[in-house]
Amino acid sequence: MCGIVGYIGQRSAEPLLLEGLRRLEYRGYDSAGMSTLDGGQLRTIKRVGKINEGLAPALAATPMPGATGICHTRWATHGPPSDANAHPHFDQSGRLALVHNGVIENYAALRQRLTKQGHVFRSDTDSEALAQLIGHYYDETPADGDARLVNAVRRALGEVIGTYGIAVIHQDHPQLLVGARRGSPLVLGVGKGENFLASDVNAIVAHTRDVVYLNDFDVAVITRDNFQISSLTAGAVSRQISRVEWTADAAEKGDFAHFMLKEIYEQPLAVQNALRGRVNHEESTSLFGGLNMTASQLRDVDRVIFCACGTAWHAGLVGEYLFEELARVPAEVEYASEFRYRNPPVDKGTLVFVISQSGETADTLAALRESQRKGHKTLAIVNAVGSTIAREADGGVYMHAGPEVGVAATKSYISQLTVLTLLALHMGRLRHLSAARGMEIIRELEAIPDKIQHVLKQNDHIRRIAGKYQRANDFLFLGRQFNYPIALEGALKLKEISYIHAEGYPSAEMKHGPIALISPEVPSVFICPRDAVYEKTFSNIEEIKARKGPIIAVATEGDTHIATKADDVIYVPPTVDYLYPFLTVVPLQLLAYHAAVLRGCDVDKPRNLAKSVTVE
Ligand code: AGP
Ligand code: GLU
Repeated sequence: MCGIVGYIGQRSAEPLLLEGLRRLEYRGYDSAGMSTLDGGQLRTIKRVGKINEGLAPALAATPMPGATGICHTRWATHGPPSDANAHPHFDQSGRLALVHNGVIENYAALRQRLTKQGHVFRSDTDSEALAQLIGHYYDETPADGDARLVNAVRRALGEVIGTYGIAVIHQDHPQLLVGARRGSPLVLGVGKGENFLASDVNAIVAHTRDVVYLNDFDVAVITRDNFQISSLTAGAVSRQISRVEWTADAAEKGDFAHFMLKEIYEQPLAVQNALRGRVNHEESTSLFGGLNMTASQLRDVDRVIFCACGTAWHAGLVGEYLFEELARVPAEVEYASEFRYRNPPVDKGTLVFVISQSGETADTLAALRESQRKGHKTLAIVNAVGSTIAREADGGVYMHAGPEVGVAATKSYISQLTVLTLLALHMGRLRHLSAARGMEIIRELEAIPDKIQHVLKQNDHIRRIAGKYQRANDFLFLGRQFNYPIALEGALKLKEISYIHAEGYPSAEMKHGPIALISPEVPSVFICPRDAVYEKTFSNIEEIKARKGPIIAVATEGDTHIATKADDVIYVPPTVDYLYPFLTVVPLQLLAYHAAVLRGCDVDKPRNLAKSVTVE
């Protein structure tokens, strides 16, 4: 979680670092801090709270000079949010400053050992143990120019267990910035007469689009004109410079009040971008450049497992239904956090897909590695180009959704659904699926962006509904078949940003327990389009109504019948059963958004959460 930025160059570091940090705030926002080097002087400011509450006003009152610096926005794992626990952390001398993303698992043993050796700890964090350890080895290393700091970093990293993305500066090495990673993302930005380090290209893309994605165990030694990368496990290594394909504007809010709202409105475009270049009309199928599997290998697949977390898991559940329905391949979705520690019998013909917006989720990455260890072909569906999952997978498909900043995933979900539909089509056409059915899938999919646009036009109507129910303490979301995952997703969106308790269930399961919750104070959102299970879901609506539960229905345009039972109806255009999730999820995103805004919640930075969960 947490975001780090480092700068070394000729410009004043503080504004660059602060701006970069703001772009990473979605990664964590418990506290924020910055250290700069001005000649031989190390200055630090760190404050609890979001950047605008603590660090930014403190910097406005006391600007920090210097053209080298590091900064951090925290999502606490060890030690509560406080000024003292905010990063940067220091060694015993106070001359070395470090920012860290990740978890040092053996911090307690290191802390005990270093304390015995006379080090005095000033925070409760695991990260400080690493700062103190580097300082300890620095003191033991004979003076040898900048190599002294680099060697101390390497020695200390050789001893830590856990994950890290770090940036380190030292008062006695004002022309040096050291970065290293294992398990947490870190990218080096290559500029002219200046260089950057960051957890995510978002932070630096306004200054350079030339980047090096560091690998695990890489140590980067950076000056303003140069950089060298070596591996902890080998010597010097050469890493390719990649070009970022989007500009800083893509990660701006524009006229929207929140990133989440902007990203909800970008969904028609997200579908188009995920479709672009991937449809073969002549052969009624889809094309993928990066699966790295031949048609005959794909035909040999007899089972598919999707592994993901959170919203990406919900997309995987839609994937399960799509693969069964369109490709006739047995498919199932697994929580990555469970899959990584289970030992399911998985046979040779199994293809594993990991799904992740960020490409950095620790559990999803671990599931990918576990699956590869067992010899399974493991492909990734990822948004963040150059992310760890994208690089480690055996092949995969990029979502092309552009940067998603709101902590609540919205457009990435729609992109995942698009990619999964195309993959199911591809697998289906290699098996039994007729050209005519393939064409129907393509035609319906290509019509989806306009239909989403149509749903978005109901924003004001949905805001009014949110206003009516915003004081509810509990919500139920109910849907069946293709819309059961949407019930789960609607409930997740509502709880994560509005803090209203919500549960998603298959509609028919409601009678096995949740119906006990129904009262005039507990609204139920029914996802009930005109599909194969419409009549069944409608009966469930009757059952709730009979118990005086308020009903909000998401239904197909023209369905006047449902309005006789539901208290409020949000209509979506008609489509085929398997594509309804693309349309029914949108009103639920807007419902959650407006409920959160009306309740005064910080929509883009919900409490306790971070966008990229890089710790287990
Ligand atoms: C969704 O709104 C969440 N904030 C969260 O569940 C997210 O989908 C999950 O953490 C997975 O992230 P990833 O797609 O980056 O792997
Ligand atoms: N483990 C460190 C801490 O609690 C870093 C957490 C993070 O990655 O934000 O401060």
